[in-house]
Amino acid sequence: MDRIVVQQSGPLSGQVDVPGAKNSVLKLMVASLYAPGRHELTNVPDISDVETMGALLGALGVRVRRDDADDTVLHLHNDGDVRTVAPPDLVTSIRASINVLGPLLAVCGRVRLDMPGGDDFGTRPIDMHIAGLKAMGVDFDIDDHSLAARADRLRGADIVLDFPSVGATENLLTAAVHAEGLTTITNAAREPEVADLCELLVEMGARIQGIGSSVLRIEGVERGSLVPVSHAVVSDRIQAATYLAAVAVAGGSAVVKGARAEHMVVLLNRMNDMGLHLEAVPGGVSIVSEGRMRAVDVQTLPYPGLATDYKPLLVTMLAVAEGMGIVTENLYPGRFRYVEELSKLGADIRTDGHHAIVRGMERLRGAAVVAPDIRAGAALVIAGLAAEGRTVISGIEHIDRGYDDLVGRLVAMGASVARADSADL
Ligand code: EPU
Repeated sequence: MDRIVVQQSGPLSGQVDVPGAKNSVLKLMVASLYAPGRHELTNVPDISDVETMGALLGALGVRVRRDDADDTVLHLHNDGDVRTVAPPDLVTSIRASINVLGPLLAVCGRVRLDMPGGDDFGTRPIDMHIAGLKAMGVDFDIDDHSLAARADRLRGADIVLDFPSVGATENLLTAAVHAEGLTTITNAAREPEVADLCELLVEMGARIQGIGSSVLRIEGVERGSLVPVSHAVVSDRIQAATYLAAVAVAGGSAVVKGARAEHMVVLLNRMNDMGLHLEAVPGGVSIVSEGRMRAVDVQTLPYPGLATDYKPLLVTMLAVAEGMGIVTENLYPGRFRYVEELSKLGADIRTDGHHAIVRGMERLRGAAVVAPDIRAGAALVIAGLAAEGRTVISGIEHIDRGYDDLVGRLVAMGASVARADSADL
């Protein structure tokens, strides 16, 4: 199994470009189920979750392949024979597999699938997806491992979400695309990736108002009226944050090209509060990191609040900042599993319920650690940049699910990072 080996590095410099967002592209790929013909996505990241989603769509009747000349372009060919039973092994490998629910109900009126997989942050229920779809006329047959859903007619409904869930908002709006009449989703998720999906659907012929706001209004259109389009995936704010965090802990300055400052406002503010210098520049975000960062308190919230996916990076920055910071997790109570791994590098972190209390150390020390999930894995690589000696990260298949050449991009900024086969170690 491959590992990532990191040596203490810095100062970093130069430019790094950010690919399209995992949490957008996977859902945009699923939208190909609506219309026979050739769909195209550009700015597609080279990550293993795209391959998994491609295989899942293949089983549902959409052939997916990367362009021969430009691997950031994805061609999706829906031959008009969409199937409604998803293979369990693919569904349980990624969370976004649940996103086939809305489109398959909209197009075929039925679907059968296993419960979705994804990172293990504790329980990840889908009750809001189900309650909203029931309100639209869907009947469910559910057990602990799988669900079968059926709707002879989908009808528009007024749905108020208890919490602005990304996945529930997406499944409800994608089902509503072909429902009879108007669907209103109140307290909808406002993440840029949700807006990206709405924009693609509108380009295909759907009628959606309130894009990017917490109230979405979807006027159902006839089945068969959507058309294939070409669409560029929104840039990945979490990958962008990862390169900013690399400079923050290793020192130096860089421009993260393609980063959308307007999608990362709270993060940029907090990092500036830590004594870093971040600003929007034409085509990206620049960062200058001089001297030691100062600790701040942060809490994760739905967008536009500080994303839970930034949190392992923030904990890593606080682990080497001056002073003590408290990190409060409001989305996934179980999302502190990597703290044990950071502690192996000498980080001083105590967890108490959904809080982590991080006391900054002057330096960390290299050790062997295991990536428990995508974002925590990347944060361990970033922590290695600030650790004396060598840090070896295993479990990097998690990182490959969501990061497009993390190692190559860090190397381009001057970091000492490499992939190694265990035989090389
Ligand atoms: N929730 C419920 N019931 C539901 C749906 C959600 O209780 O029916 C809870 C969840 O358990 C969680 C909270 O609501 O506590 C937020 O969940 P949400 O539905 O918003 O998350 P998701 O759609 O499952 C996506 C991303 C995650 C990201 C979250 C939050 C994808 C494939 N995944 O998950 O990304 O952390 O939104 O922003 O889009 C990652 O990329 O590493 C990742 C985990």
